[in-house]
Amino acid sequence: MGDTAAHQHQHTGHRSAEEPASSAGPVPSAGHAPSAEPVPSAEPVFFADPVHGPGIDTAAVAALADEVLDWRFKAAPADASGRTVRDWLATGPTLDGLGTPLLTLDAAALDHNLHTMAAWCRETGVLLAPHGKTTMAPALWQAQLAAGAHAITLANLPQLRVARAFGVQRLLLANTLLDPAGLAWLAAELDHDPDFAFASWVDSADSVRQMDAALRAAGARRPVEVLVELGGPGGRTGARGIPAALDVAAAVHAAPTLRLAGVGGYEGALAHDASDTALAAVRDYLRDLAELHRRLAPDYPTATPVVTAGGSAYFDTVAEELTPLASEFPGTTVIVRAGAYLAHDDGFYRGISPLARTTGATPLHSAMHGWARVVSHPEPQLALLDAGKRDLPFDEGLPEPQLVRGTGALKDAEVTALNDQHTFLRGAGEHAPIGAVVRLGLSHPCTAFDKWNLIPVLDHADAQHPRVVDLVRTYF
Ligand SMILES: Cc1ncc(COP(=O)(O)O)c(C=O)c1O
Repeated sequence: MGDTAAHQHQHTGHRSAEEPASSAGPVPSAGHAPSAEPVPSAEPVFFADPVHGPGIDTAAVAALADEVLDWRFKAAPADASGRTVRDWLATGPTLDGLGTPLLTLDAAALDHNLHTMAAWCRETGVLLAPHGKTTMAPALWQAQLAAGAHAITLANLPQLRVARAFGVQRLLLANTLLDPAGLAWLAAELDHDPDFAFASWVDSADSVRQMDAALRAAGARRPVEVLVELGGPGGRTGARGIPAALDVAAAVHAAPTLRLAGVGGYEGALAHDASDTALAAVRDYLRDLAELHRRLAPDYPTATPVVTAGGSAYFDTVAEELTPLASEFPGTTVIVRAGAYLAHDDGFYRGISPLARTTGATPLHSAMHGWARVVSHPEPQLALLDAGKRDLPFDEGLPEPQLVRGTGALKDAEVTALNDQHTFLRGAGEHAPIGAVVRLGLSHPCTAFDKWNLIPVLDHADAQHPRVVDLVRTYF
């Protein structure tokens, strides 16, 4: 996103220990200078340190425009084959020239969501480390960092490697990394690049010991920052209860290759709606997380510990419960990790987003849509569209028929099922004849982006003939 020259002179020149991608790739190698020997540095950065610069290798991101389009990208039309992304965009493409099935983003909505969330974080006194697994799109990470994000959050080693290939400087792994080869890779990344800041989660003394052993075996020089992860009953990972979490912290203190940097967890694993019961469970959990921080505060080996929670469903409650810690323990940084907010949706997040539930808040806009063509109309009230589970998310609600291109809103129609390659549209009758292209509202960005390695960005999905203004590359 943005023009190449503007990005090139801000180039970070990051040093990754990993070999750059080979010539077959889209040039994420631009600007990489892998060095055989670790580069000594006066002062390696820590995860909570203030951010300087773009936080990502902007030249590597800009170089994505050099990628050549062809059959590997199901969103790219055949007549774009052989052109680079940059050249094809310069032809002034519109949605009319794209095929179906298709997933698109909406530039205006993305921009709105990006700045609405950034403003909310600023006003609320929290930092944002958006979960990057939602989009796995370095260009969108760059936009999030440029809008003020402190770091990018990720979920596993392959995702970390993508981020490091694009020179992301500050990464939060909202998970535990135990794979010895992965830890050796991490140690090398940290030792090669003093500007790389990293923190991960640990939730047991066993995982602390295994990490420590693997990091020692790898000859790690810089300590790896870790946050004690607190879980909750019926939840996912995370130590159950404050005493168990304190034991984990004690194990971290005893591990020479690790450095206790704060506490964290994910309230989204404990609730799935905005009922009073769900909100109370989230609040109780966050109060425990705050209490854990209080108990650990005297012994942190840092003056700037991190407290992190918060996906896109409950970040308001997270801020309410955790921001007081910053005045109670000056130096504490509260970080939320919303990821879905950027694309938002017409389903689960439309219903649960705090900015939709709070009177007077600026709501987010859905920035993603599916487009599918009626390929069969075997019964008067049944139409089959050419998009299926391979193309559209279905795990948090089925797509919502919104309009027929060139005709208008589609009322009283419903998607009742998705097969691998088909959508069952019922109730549209003659409003969705064979050949009609239907726009579908979607639910759950995380399982939409992963189905597309290239996603056209429209200027306005509501326009009569939306223009394609960008192509977003993803790496899942
Ligand atoms: C640990 C963790 N943090 C943050 C998030 C981001 O939440 P959301 O997808 O609601 O933005 C997720 C999403 O699954 C998560 O698992």
